[in-house]
Amino acid sequence: MKNEETARSLRNDRIQGDYYRLDLEAPVIARAVRPGQFVHTQIPGLAHRVLRRPFSVFDTDPATGRLSIIYKVVGEGTARLAATAPGTPISLLGPLGNGFSLPSADAFPVIVAGGFGCAATFLLARRSPVPFRVLIGGRSVADLLLVREYRELGCTVRVATEDGSRGHRGVVTDLLAQLLDGGGPPPRVYACGPNAMLGAVCRLVSGRGLDAEVSLDHVMCCGVGACYTCVVKVLADTPDGWEYVRTCLDGPVFRARETVWE
Ligand SMILES: Cc1cc2nc3c(=O)[nH]c(=O)nc-3n(C[C@H](O)[C@H](O)[C@H](O)COP(=O)(O)OP(=O)(O)OC[C@H]3O[C@@H](n4cnc5c(N)ncnc54)[C@H](O)[C@@H]3O)c2cc1C
Ligand code: FES
Repeated sequence: MKNEETARSLRNDRIQGDYYRLDLEAPVIARAVRPGQFVHTQIPGLAHRVLRRPFSVFDTDPATGRLSIIYKVVGEGTARLAATAPGTPISLLGPLGNGFSLPSADAFPVIVAGGFGCAATFLLARRSPVPFRVLIGGRSVADLLLVREYRELGCTVRVATEDGSRGHRGVVTDLLAQLLDGGGPPPRVYACGPNAMLGAVCRLVSGRGLDAEVSLDHVMCCGVGACYTCVVKVLADTPDGWEYVRTCLDGPVFRARETVWE
């Protein structure tokens, strides 16, 4: 189900570094969204010349109709979004994409996340019947997002920074490798973050005969399957052994075992 809803900005605050949190009153989408889905967001004041921008739904409160996103300022659209005052109407299209599947109560689930990927997996941890282990990575401590919020959900959180300013010195997939080789039950792995991180997650799990759900980050235009800007290769039963699928419609969440990394 997807809707176009004119949401009202309730709060738009810088949370750390270049990251902001935007809370919106969007009761229709907030009540329909599943973990890992996204909203295609019209940037106030730029609707005439930039396309909508996709943002994962970070959190919702279905009782009040609140929907939240966390975004990093990287260009014109996100800079303008950061300057949007509370009370501003913002058009959303959503919820879009397929989303993650919830783990079962007897699973041993693990999230691997970096950057704004930490926002894409948060609702999954909130709605899970069993607490997650969460592995969060970033270049330095300033890039680690939502550590406290995941712990407040009851998750066990480990962090990695490339410069060693917090937690393990190295990349977050080092922590995943330790966990996979630690001798416990095979975990159910979910991941969202930079594509280099996702490629490493897919190689790690595949090399051990496991699978994962990974949310791919790809530039999008229409967000609803019409323009084919967002296609990625996946393994398929075709003469070439692969086919193109649309990240906005068939994803953004894919099985590690179907992804192609070139
Ligand atoms: C399914 C999905 C969910 C997303 N969820 C979030 C989220 O929760 N929070 C968040 O901050 N961002 C998220 N993004 C990325 C976000 O959509 C882009 O950062 C945003 O569109 C950039 O808009 P802009 O106008 O500020 O930048 P532009 O001016 O369009 O680009 C500025 C720079 O950012 C780069 N860029 C643009 N789009 C992306 C992208 N998708 N990924 C990486 N780099 C990009 C460009 O190459 C360029 O270098 C998501 C993307 C997808 C596809
Ligand atoms: S963004 Fe247009 S088809 Fe996916």
